[in-house]
Amino acid sequence: MIGPDLKFKDQVVIVTGSSSGIGKACAVHFANHGAKVVINYNSNAHEGMQVLDEIVSNGGSAILVKADVSREDDVKALFAEAVSRYGKVDVLVSNAGLQKDSSFLEMTLEQWQKVIDVNLTGQFLCCREAARQFVKQQENAQEVNHSELSIGKIILMSSVHDVIPWAGHVNYAASKGGIMMFMKSISQELAPHKIRVNSVSPGAIKTPINKEVWSDPDKYKGLLQLIPYKRIGTPEDVAKAVAWLSSDDSDYVNGETLYIDGGMTLYPEFADNG
Ligand code: BGC
Repeated sequence: MIGPDLKFKDQVVIVTGSSSGIGKACAVHFANHGAKVVINYNSNAHEGMQVLDEIVSNGGSAILVKADVSREDDVKALFAEAVSRYGKVDVLVSNAGLQKDSSFLEMTLEQWQKVIDVNLTGQFLCCREAARQFVKQQENAQEVNHSELSIGKIILMSSVHDVIPWAGHVNYAASKGGIMMFMKSISQELAPHKIRVNSVSPGAIKTPINKEVWSDPDKYKGLLQLIPYKRIGTPEDVAKAVAWLSSDDSDYVNGETLYIDGGMTLYPEFADNG
């Protein structure tokens, strides 16, 4: 439900890949805290509509835009639509991503390329568009901005697999490892423009991407062995961290990766001394 904490009142937030999973939770969370949200989907219009309905029926404001983040024209059109409807952009949650799993020996160039296109090139295109928009807004501002606070925020969706190697998923791990350096480098470059760039790295979060694991009792038991906190994460666990990184409460946080993983990156196999 919208309110009572309207921390993002009048802010415009684009969340890519927000028809399901973590992206959906982010879109709903921002809307509930007063933001005007641009929901984005590529293939599932029906789910996108459901997110739009949920936000609007809760009293929030949102639009739904189809765009394939790996296509430059689509990304430009996504931002143009956001600006035409809401006049500006304040936050980008660059979330859209996918897995195309295969053993390395069997992996096709197509599987490799698709994951790199969406998870890495897609984030490049969206972040570049957001940064250009933030700079343009600042240049076109009617009044001089005396605030010390950042003029635009970008949150990239990474994964624990930006540091944990993942056999059988080398395309995905390579894309997320790439996101880490991409994020840090653009953060360094954009900071003088007062644009903040950070990543979140979720561990196992209960979403469609890993349903095959959490819906099978044996596999789920195995998964919990990898999580010291002994529970799978929820999309809302991630949305709350994304919101904090997007808010002025984290204004001095820049170029960081926040792990939201119940301790998955703590080498749980060593808990009993190996
Ligand atoms: C992957 C999930 C996986 C999790 C922890 C995520 O980035 O998308 O499939 O469960 O990492 O391994």
